Amino acid sequence: GRALADEAYLRGAHVLLVTTQPESAAPYEVVAVATADEMAAAVTEAAASADVLVMAAAVADFRPSAATEGKIERGGRESLTLELDRTVDILATAARPGLLRVGFAAEAGPQLARARGKKAAKGVDLLVFNDILAEGVGIGSDENEITIIAAEGETHVPRTTKQACAAAVADAIERLLDSPR
Ligand code: CTP
Repeated sequence: GRALADEAYLRGAHVLLVTTQPESAAPYEVVAVATADEMAAAVTEAAASADVLVMAAAVADFRPSAATEGKIERGGRESLTLELDRTVDILATAARPGLLRVGFAAEAGPQLARARGKKAAKGVDLLVFNDILAEGVGIGSDENEITIIAAEGETHVPRTTKQACAAAVADAIERLLDSPR
């Protein structure tokens, strides 16, 4: 997410980064959030006046149905069942005419077909596939290997820096912004 924000900023975009990891300084506005609900609220507000929304976050799909003040006491229990509710799908609900949406697909394995399905299901303009089980790339690494899925075709970016991946995604976004929609 940060590499994408940096790349967009360097290309002259007005950037707002919504993140759970606001630690390092940035030359653009950064909104810190802690939960999927907070991210949904911040993104929905910003997306209302944006041209492009890129959702690189691995958002939690479920949250505890109830929160406890203080602590959950052991009380002699041998197990504990937590009930979870679905969180809102931020990328899908942000859809509006004129907003170009870019999603990421975190897949456990080389499941490109599943990522293609996600592009259709979420109705996004671009879907960036990455395999979260691939060694040495993706979450926690400075490198990634991605496939950018567009209506016009697919672009595979072999293992490289996240900045180079972000540049490839930015190129794909620019191509769409330049083409009549
Ligand atoms: N996403 C989102 N809001 C969520 C969950 C995901 O906006 N509550 C976005 C992610 O930021 C990403 C895309 O949806 O751009 C796909 O996320 P991913 O975790 O790969 O897939 P899911 O939609 O959660 O589906 P599944 O867990 O079945 O793979």
